[in-house]
Amino acid sequence: MAITIKNRREIERMRDAGEVVALIHQRIAQAIAPGVTTADLDDIARQTLDERGAVSSFLGYHGYPAHICASVNEEIVHGIPARRALRNGDIISVDIGAILHGFHGDAAWTYPVGEISEAAALLLVDTEMALNLAIAAAKTGNRLGAIGAAVEGFATPRGYGVIREYGGHGIGRQMHEDPHVPNHGAADRGVLLRTGMTLAIEPMLTTGGEETRELADHWTVVTADGSLASHFEHTVVVTPEGGQILTQRPLDPVY
Ligand code: MF3
Ligand code: CO
Repeated sequence: MAITIKNRREIERMRDAGEVVALIHQRIAQAIAPGVTTADLDDIARQTLDERGAVSSFLGYHGYPAHICASVNEEIVHGIPARRALRNGDIISVDIGAILHGFHGDAAWTYPVGEISEAAALLLVDTEMALNLAIAAAKTGNRLGAIGAAVEGFATPRGYGVIREYGGHGIGRQMHEDPHVPNHGAADRGVLLRTGMTLAIEPMLTTGGEETRELADHWTVVTADGSLASHFEHTVVVTPEGGQILTQRPLDPVY
């Protein structure tokens, strides 16, 4: 499939879908606490999607059984929400996709549960930083490889594992469009980025190795060595100033 370039009207519709994703993230972020289950978080997503007239990008996708993905600790991606209570010290990656008026938004964030270890806190800060550097590299005239090079160039020297088996993707009328967006590689390789390309950029880092394993549920992907994993993702549009985020979380209220 060819890479699609979106016009202004289409970008505005993607921003609307992205706003729903951001709102769900905000509500889930406020709900996360020891004792809350990942199924509770899925309920928040379902209710907010209903309220906004949107539907989950994930529910039913290749048979996926929930509205969001909720991946705890060594789980990297695609964890299925369940009656599993979060515990103090956990980290939880929440991945949310919404379709509104025919367009998708897709964003993931890893949240602390209560008090977390210093190593876990640093992993979260650094994965968010890797995402921000990757977004800055999503600039008109750069090659696609600049995105992965930004992630790898930041994460590898700091001792993190960079997950290679999963990556980002083009996004728009479909959740997954061309191109695949790796989190590693050389900056001078890959297609030329053009203004109006819309990409889901999603680095996944670990405190250990890069090898992954799929659990018996055929969805949950974990680190093979049991190390902690973190996942941050935004949907962005390529512009001459770098990626412009379409799934921005509204600013936290002051009160
Ligand atoms: N954000 C993920 C992705 O970009 C979510 C897909 S998970 C599934 O691939 F549940 F939809 F399969
Ligand atoms: Co995605």
